[in-house]
Amino acid sequence: MADKKRIDAETGTETTGHNWDGIEELNTPLPRWWLWTFYATCVWGVIYVILYPAWPLVSGATPGIFGYSTRGEVAAEIDRVALSNAELTQSLERIDLAVLEENEVLHRFAVAAGASVFRNNCSQCHGAGAAGVQAAGYPNLLDDDWLWGGQIEEIALTVRHGIRNEADPDAHWSQMPAFDDMLDDAEITALVNQVRWMGGLEAEPDPAGAALFADNCAACHGDNGIGNREIGAPNLTDAIWLYGGTPEEVEHTIRYSRFGVMPPWGERLDEAEIRAVSAYVHGLGGGERPVADPADAAPVEVPEATYPASAEETPKEAGEPPVRPVPTE
Ligand code: HEC
Ligand code: HEC
Repeated sequence: MADKKRIDAETGTETTGHNWDGIEELNTPLPRWWLWTFYATCVWGVIYVILYPAWPLVSGATPGIFGYSTRGEVAAEIDRVALSNAELTQSLERIDLAVLEENEVLHRFAVAAGASVFRNNCSQCHGAGAAGVQAAGYPNLLDDDWLWGGQIEEIALTVRHGIRNEADPDAHWSQMPAFDDMLDDAEITALVNQVRWMGGLEAEPDPAGAALFADNCAACHGDNGIGNREIGAPNLTDAIWLYGGTPEEVEHTIRYSRFGVMPPWGERLDEAEIRAVSAYVHGLGGGERPVADPADAAPVEVPEATYPASAEETPKEAGEPPVRPVPTE
């Protein structure tokens, strides 16, 4: 195969000496422009390695003499935004939540900040659109049905301490008994009918069920079943179910009870974040107003806004809240 190199007579170019069945390969030089571009990229590569992070190491990469990093850039950007919002954040920490809504600038800031706190911390349970997950007992936060109270301060309390968790001694606490051992099957069936009838579902009113309800359930759920927010006992007369209203679901709740747990956020979020996410949840549609006159509350100075207005203030993508039928309160 390998032959001697020689000058090809036809083209005047040197051959490589490779020869296949009489076909020889010419050793044509690379075009100048290509060669110089190639050298230029080599030089650029060396300069880049010296200036910028390049070679991967065990943790991180060689820093380069500019010390540039995309992470550093993000951190600087976050610091810049935090600084520009520092005054608003401080006002949010101090303001009486009852009058937050009246401070339009601060309220807008809180709702926008709260939306991102919600996305990062709450959406895994309550859903991205806050519509909840009934199968898991994560309540819908879009409706005006509240277990523990829908005023912004009540929401902030729930968020700060959580519900039925061991971590926070101030968590909301209550426990529905499991009636599996206490009542027989016929009694439980009667109660399922009674509960479904109270909730406006297709079920026969049942005198036995009504009597059992008065004896066993009314202490927490109220004589008419409208619930009790002091202990987070759900209203059973609306069409909104925390765990579901089918006969099977209601029976499961009565037999075994449920015990919904929410973690406390007082440790994990700072004061401004708790207040912001409470303002966000309050603004989702079901927020309640205090009965007392909020004009008595101490005023708080609110600085000029320097942040960009957010388009995410009232996400309603999870659809309309369920319709309440005939409220019997
Ligand atoms: C691990 C799951 C989980 C996470 C995460 C979670 N929650 Fe909850 N949340 C629950 C459960 C369960 C309940 C209902 C408990 C009950 O039965 O009373 C609840 C109830 C609530 C309530 C009371 C609703 C009412 O009707 O009174 C509010 C308000 C609330 N959550 C807000 C939040 C916010 C804000 C966050 C994020 C900072 C959050 N939750 C994160 C599980 C969670
Ligand atoms: C000690 C108070 C207490 C008693 C007594 C009690 N409950 Fe409850 N009940 C609760 C609480 C609190 C919840 C919220 C569930 C949870 O997350 O643990 C609840 C939830 C429910 C639910 C779920 C509602 C939904 O929206 O999915 C039903 C149904 C129910 N109770 C029916 C009954 C019936 C029927 C009785 C009587 C046999 C009864 N309860 C007795 C406190 C009580």
